[in-house]
Amino acid sequence: MTLDQWMNHMLPEIERELQVQIRRLDQPSTSRFHETIAYHMGWTGSGAGPQASGKRIRPLLLLLTTAACEKDWEPALPAAAAVELVHNFSLVHDDVQDNSDVRRGRATVWKNWGVPMAINVGDALFVIANLAVMDLSRSLPPELVIRSARILNSFCLDLTRGQFLDMSYEERLDLSMKEYWPMIGGKTSALLSACTQIGALIGSASELIQEAYRQFGYHLGLAFQIQDDILGIWGNEQATGKSASSDLVEGKNSLPILYGLENSEDFRERWRSRPIDFDQVKPLSDLLERIGARHFAELQVREQTSLALAHLEMATPGGEAGKALLELTNQLLNRRS
Ligand code: IPE
Ligand code: IPE
Ligand code: MG
Ligand code: MG
Repeated sequence: MTLDQWMNHMLPEIERELQVQIRRLDQPSTSRFHETIAYHMGWTGSGAGPQASGKRIRPLLLLLTTAACEKDWEPALPAAAAVELVHNFSLVHDDVQDNSDVRRGRATVWKNWGVPMAINVGDALFVIANLAVMDLSRSLPPELVIRSARILNSFCLDLTRGQFLDMSYEERLDLSMKEYWPMIGGKTSALLSACTQIGALIGSASELIQEAYRQFGYHLGLAFQIQDDILGIWGNEQATGKSASSDLVEGKNSLPILYGLENSEDFRERWRSRPIDFDQVKPLSDLLERIGARHFAELQVREQTSLALAHLEMATPGGEAGKALLELTNQLLNRRS
């Protein structure tokens, strides 16, 4: 089976499980609350559909990992829903934190309903994620459920640490690239590690193999975030569904920026005179490209992808799901959205 065929099997089941979990909020007196969440998940409102739902790579990674351990992936569905719910909670709050207007090609939750409502939507998604993981007990022993919940929540804590670093860097001009890695290790890699580790745990893998899968997810997460940083400056808005100028305008300390701060006096000067206007975005991204920031970031994506693949090999993934994991990793390396 190819990756596309696995996705055709898994994606509708992931969507169904997400809907079951989120339906907990669908009560007459709070139906508008349910509606805001359904909108964020990409199910309702104008422009609803797969593009508005995002790629769902976290649940796919989790389920493919369980399948690559040569176990049935269906019992892992509540955990797959849980990681996607955590991801979506973090996006709703992240868009408030980053002041982002657009996500997945549509207005963000805070932009539509205001910041107080968006905070509550994020809270609900986080709580539902934790209820979802408990639903693993439909077909798995309590011991496994507790271990999965522990992994998920400890990686969620890392995610908040990463977001803290990200926000605390915003006002700083003295940053170097070494400060980048703990930030993205927390905000992005932690959750991808949780996906692969929980997938392996449910797949009854040994501790050693679980660790190899965890590391696979971690390095994949680093590569994924660097690619996101590249797309945040040079991406196509139609494909990413996010504003292509927002990282520069918002003054985000993404990898190309940190490279520029470390390597170009010209760039440092311009960055110091922030805020950046929209008409400065193109000259600034051209300057970054000229000084080699884009090339450097692309090299880092390749390096982290190779590390991810080395750990995947150590995890000895089995059968067609193993090949699909490899294919997914290579696809993410070249992603445009
Ligand atoms: C966006 O993640 C946030 C990052 C960690 C870079 P995705 O690119 O997986 O977002 P969706 O779910 O597909 O929209
Ligand atoms: C990604 O944050 C990580 C989380 C949402 C926790 P970013 O701010 O870098 O990602 P985008 O570009 O808004 O998706
Ligand atoms: Mg952010
Ligand atoms: Mg953001």
